[in-house]
Amino acid sequence: APSPLSPDQARALLARAREARAHAYAPYSDFPVGAALLAADGTVFTGCNVENASYGLCNCAERVAVGTAVAQGSRAFTAVAVVGPEDDMPCAPCGACRQVLYEFGPEMVVISPDDGATEAGYTATPLKALLPGAFDPSRLGRR
Ligand code: THU
Repeated sequence: APSPLSPDQARALLARAREARAHAYAPYSDFPVGAALLAADGTVFTGCNVENASYGLCNCAERVAVGTAVAQGSRAFTAVAVVGPEDDMPCAPCGACRQVLYEFGPEMVVISPDDGATEAGYTATPLKALLPGAFDPSRLGRR
């Protein structure tokens, strides 16, 4: 089951995602995104989207955060917070990022601002609910 994240932890992770968003390189979409990954040991790794003039080469904030974390030796995550251009608006991870997140945290929760829909100001959704029937790494090597 997804590890319970306290409201304070969730809000702190969202704050880190908003900070990371400040570094977004998104001149083509004008849609800056920030992501903050919580590692199992409590370390937070962040990412922002990094676009390219060859549009198909754009990198999402979530995958940049995963790459940053893995390159520093961290591979197990319990939560990710994602924020788009507006602080309080939800920004759902794209399908590709869901699969990449799943690789290193099938039990993680996705923290998203909820546009004031709840008292808490955010939602925590299990990644597995966002990616039912995920391709699981354990499927490999079964031949
Ligand atoms: N983007 C992200 O970085 N993460 C998301 O969750 C949604 C989309 C980026 C990709 C592109 O740079 C811009 O947002 C517009 O799609």
